[in-house]
Amino acid sequence: MSLARAVTFAIDGIASRRVLVEVDVRVGLPAFTIVGCGDMSVRESRERIRAALLNSGFEFPARRITANLAPAALRKVGPGFDLAIACALLAAGGQVPVESLERWAIFGELSLGGEVRPCRGTLAVAEGARRAGSTGLLVPRAAAREAALVDGLSIAAVGSLREVVAVLAGEVEPPAPPEAQGEEPGETLDDLDDVRGHLLPIRALVVAAAGGHNLLLAGPPGTGKTMLARRLPSILPPLTHPEAVEVTRIHSVAGLRMGEGLAQRRPLRAPHHTISASGLVGGGSSPTPGEVSMAHHGVLFLDELSEFARTSLEALRQPLEDGRVVVVRSQRTAIYPARFMLVASTNPCPCGHAGSPLCRCMEGDVLRYRRRLSGPLLDRMDLLVHVARPSAAELAGESLTSSADARADVARSRAVQTARFEGTPITCNAQMPSRLLRVHAGLDETGETTLARAYDREHLSARGHHRILRVARTIADLAGAEAIGVKHLIEALQFRQDTGALELAA
Ligand SMILES: Nc1ncnc2c1ncn2[C@@H]1O[C@H](COP(=O)(O)OP(=O)(O)O)[C@@H](O)[C@H]1O
Ligand SMILES: [Mg+2]
Repeated sequence: MSLARAVTFAIDGIASRRVLVEVDVRVGLPAFTIVGCGDMSVRESRERIRAALLNSGFEFPARRITANLAPAALRKVGPGFDLAIACALLAAGGQVPVESLERWAIFGELSLGGEVRPCRGTLAVAEGARRAGSTGLLVPRAAAREAALVDGLSIAAVGSLREVVAVLAGEVEPPAPPEAQGEEPGETLDDLDDVRGHLLPIRALVVAAAGGHNLLLAGPPGTGKTMLARRLPSILPPLTHPEAVEVTRIHSVAGLRMGEGLAQRRPLRAPHHTISASGLVGGGSSPTPGEVSMAHHGVLFLDELSEFARTSLEALRQPLEDGRVVVVRSQRTAIYPARFMLVASTNPCPCGHAGSPLCRCMEGDVLRYRRRLSGPLLDRMDLLVHVARPSAAELAGESLTSSADARADVARSRAVQTARFEGTPITCNAQMPSRLLRVHAGLDETGETTLARAYDREHLSARGHHRILRVARTIADLAGAEAIGVKHLIEALQFRQDTGALELAA
């Protein structure tokens, strides 16, 4: 009978690639085959398309139907091809004008009843459509606000297969994406004014947020480590627009959010300690972003660090160094961005009470426990802080700060950093390469001797040495100081007394 084509897009990493859908309908025994390297959900789309067509009042040709998704070398994952295949099939059967499919790229899942549903990765698809030179993109209404984040592409926000056909036939104007309902309310964040005492840990939290530094909270159970870490998002600076677009793109591909507009907040991801290495950094047979990428531009919080499998923690090295993850699968390489602040909490020993008479651990147990921690991660922590039991008076007293006050300090020091790194891809002190440390984190003579003495006394690594300078730079920025003073340096050193947080408790 005839042949029709439609354009859609396949998710590849966190971007998308153009896919041409060809549908051939000819006389023969009734059959419906989809070829072109689709996964299970692509094969199952035959059943959805058949039911959706019939339930929408269209004819499903009793012929031999072949759909091909090209290029065949690209793996196609997910149900987002449904709508494009259905449209090409309708065009091949003469129920939709063939030329109309040249104007629109099409992306969406079908329900059996003929409604269209949002899929993962709509933003990446819309960006791909604009890059590929498509004039318009037809997407489910529930995903349209996400697609509309891309400029220069007209979006048709459709609710059902019938509506899609009406748009293609020119019977109705392409429906515009729904307006955003003002600011998304979002869940309200927990506030630092719930915390009693903890002068030093709160200071460490503020310094970490100000410079984007990694932070380890060590202390006995029930002292508020988890509580503190979870309040970090409430003091972080807002996402810049390009950062928000990146977070939205990644979270959409990962299926964390679908169709809502732009991400409003820096993410905090707190995976359970049973997570596998590939869950943490990404991968799998059809690669998806891992927790480190979902935490991009935000916080990865590893609560009870010592419970995580060693292999999982080892896998964090590459993203911590490079700010991205490279996943190789069947000759294809996916690159997932992964620039995050690492925050971890831990007990100082298996029972958590090391240093107090309550401790019931054997010395060997304590040593083994610390060795598990020290491997891959400890040297990459910028700030180590001991979270001691607050006193009864502190618990009964007032809180030391509110998130709003802390956030204002953080914002002020970030503004200094933004100006400092203007024109570079660096956004905060923690990302400063050693080359720039010489420019921006110079010390005076007293500073140099103080640091040199600490370097020898604490047996610091060169990496640790650089980390102290970055933290000192942030502390000086918080104080509004142009140059790093000795008191800034001493505070930075105090947050890194070797494995201070752990030794303190012993
Ligand atoms: N310093 C503190 N100020 C106020 N409440 C606290 C403090 N420390 C602990 N709490 C209370 O104890 C609960 C448990 O604290 P949590 O953060 O889970 O401890 P940890 O993670 O150190 O074991 C918190 O939810 C909070 O209600
Ligand atoms: Mg806890």
